[in-house]
Amino acid sequence: MVGIIGKKAALTAALLATTSLAQAAEVEVLHWWTSGGEAAALNVLKEDLAGQNIGWVDMPVAGGGGESAMTTLRARVTSGDAPTAVQMLGFDILDWAEEGALANLDAVAAEEGWDKVVPAALQAFAKHDGHWISAPVNVHSTNWVWANKALLDELGIAQPTNWDEFVAALQAVKDAGKTALAHGGQAWQDATMFDGVILSVGGVDFYTKAFIDLDPAALGSDQMVEAFNRMATLRSFVDDNFSGRDWNLASAMVINGEAGFQIMGDWAKGEFINAGKVPGQDFLCFRVPGSDGAVSFNSDQFAMFSVKDEGAQGAQGEMARAIMSPSFQSAFNTVKGSVPARTDVPNDAFDACGKQGMADLAAAAESGKLVGSVAHGHANRAAVKNAIYDVVTAHFNGEYDATTAVEELVNAVEAAQ
Ligand code: BGC
Repeated sequence: MVGIIGKKAALTAALLATTSLAQAAEVEVLHWWTSGGEAAALNVLKEDLAGQNIGWVDMPVAGGGGESAMTTLRARVTSGDAPTAVQMLGFDILDWAEEGALANLDAVAAEEGWDKVVPAALQAFAKHDGHWISAPVNVHSTNWVWANKALLDELGIAQPTNWDEFVAALQAVKDAGKTALAHGGQAWQDATMFDGVILSVGGVDFYTKAFIDLDPAALGSDQMVEAFNRMATLRSFVDDNFSGRDWNLASAMVINGEAGFQIMGDWAKGEFINAGKVPGQDFLCFRVPGSDGAVSFNSDQFAMFSVKDEGAQGAQGEMARAIMSPSFQSAFNTVKGSVPARTDVPNDAFDACGKQGMADLAAAAESGKLVGSVAHGHANRAAVKNAIYDVVTAHFNGEYDATTAVEELVNAVEAAQ
């Protein structure tokens, strides 16, 4: 009799332990994936984790580029209530690591062999002092153009291969009474276009000197004047209601044929496929003309904040492991519009734009033409990034002419360092 009661008690205790473990295996995820395409991709992650009994507490903070999400994060951490997992970009990850706020993911990284499969350009942001501090979920790139194929066909416009052809194509769409360039007037979107424009003006060398080395001569050069002139040209092709528009609504204008083109990172592709559109058939994707093989990249990573609770620590490790699995990287990135953050994922499941994205990334890494996106925090710390945003946006909105913008840029970047 006693034996049976003892067994029962042990069983109950075991069940309780399992239940509390299951409850503790939960991650609170702060992210800014709130558009239709982004939400579809996020669901792939949620479902993957649910399949492994990891609970999901959603903490969405709308706002492309993640500026608002980072403000919310700072407030949460300051009040002693950091979320367990946070979508983060580039230098922001390193800043939090320097503050000692991030968990160490070395154990799972070693078990899964991350060192061998994550490209060096991503490791630069996923490791701090030799320790893994975040799990890269993808690689996006910013110097893309998205076009409505039916509209281009109707107007007899071929895919532009250089800057002048691009401007002529924009003009032809404008002449036909449509919006040539779908754009949302928000600082991060202006800056995203600027990434591609800089590459189109002076390639990787100019981009690196100006925005990675922050060389005042390059920042103040005639090439930079030309870059701002090109931004003014682009400004002449947006519609009257561009101010403040969200990026996904600009994508929708291209999707529904109201506009010809959008210059935006490949998260825009997530919107096209979420709307049932097919690359090559309904829309075109091509690099900002003049990019010449260069790719300005950004990688969404999940940084895990240090937590005391062992259950939560376990869930963080499992989430990191799940994110980095090759099958998840394929399933997620085909929906998100990005490409895998590891070099050993087959491209079979990817559409034409995805295959091009993977090939471009590998070729750019090989030829030294892979550069961190200025707009998405992979070229500079936030202070410098924001200084660049301010000048680019003020110029785009007509506050400065190109020459003044260049002077302001030199001064703002110097002051921000
Ligand atoms: C992120 C993307 C996101 C985009 C728009 C970028 O900074 O890397 O994942 O889709 O912002 O929200």
